Amino acid sequence: MTHHAIRFADLTERQAYKVMIGTVVPRPIAWVTTVSPEGVANAAPYSFFNCLSADPPILALGIENKPDGRFKDTAWNIRRTEVFTVNICDMANLVPMSATAAGFEPETDELAMAGLAAVPGTMIDCPRIAEAPVAFECRRHVSIAVSGAREIILGRIEMAHVREDIIDLDTHYSDARRLDAVGRMGGDGYCSTRDLFDLATPSVAEVETGRLRRTGSTD
Ligand SMILES: Cc1cc2nc3c(=O)[nH]c(=O)nc-3n(C[C@H](O)[C@H](O)[C@H](O)COP(=O)(O)O)c2cc1C
Repeated sequence: MTHHAIRFADLTERQAYKVMIGTVVPRPIAWVTTVSPEGVANAAPYSFFNCLSADPPILALGIENKPDGRFKDTAWNIRRTEVFTVNICDMANLVPMSATAAGFEPETDELAMAGLAAVPGTMIDCPRIAEAPVAFECRRHVSIAVSGAREIILGRIEMAHVREDIIDLDTHYSDARRLDAVGRMGGDGYCSTRDLFDLATPSVAEVETGRLRRTGSTD
């Protein structure tokens, strides 16, 4: 099978976006809660998201502006308050998470709109979602303006709230089956994390035996 060579300089912004979101999959979903200086709580999902460093503990969000050029409420609130909370979305919260992606105006409390309960932050003045299995309270570390319409926000984790049936506080391992996190695919697609398997990283010596080499053709 041959590969299409796609030069990104020849693509529109929308085409580039489609190539990326359809192939960089699954992406984790940051279900971000913020609060405006006026005290209105906000929630929205962001799948341009990942953890990029454990020391310091850094989470990254990629936020584009609204179609009319205004900042999304999440980005605008973080600019003004310097804090945000990343909640992890599980299968039980799929529908309310999706509801918080609708383009509500800044004065709408999206948690209330989606029937979710807000719990006050412990380290930061920003609510987390009571129904979410995990929440990370973050303080803005640095923002990178990648274009006039997009920014990457790095947040430093100050506190995690992990549902007690998920994490073992002796080992700090979490049970992925109990977490039941949702991932984002291209278009309107999602995936579950219910099809799990383990594969330990082999040693150099094990690879050198040749037994782990791919066999079969790519055609
Ligand atoms: C699963 C999912 C992932 C999304 N990921 C992003 C993203 O990474 N970046 C972005 O700018 N918008 C993303 N969106 C769209 C925002 O959630 C949407 O624009 C939302 O209305 C923003 O809300 P806010 O203005 O309250 O921040 C995503 C939507 C969904 C449903």
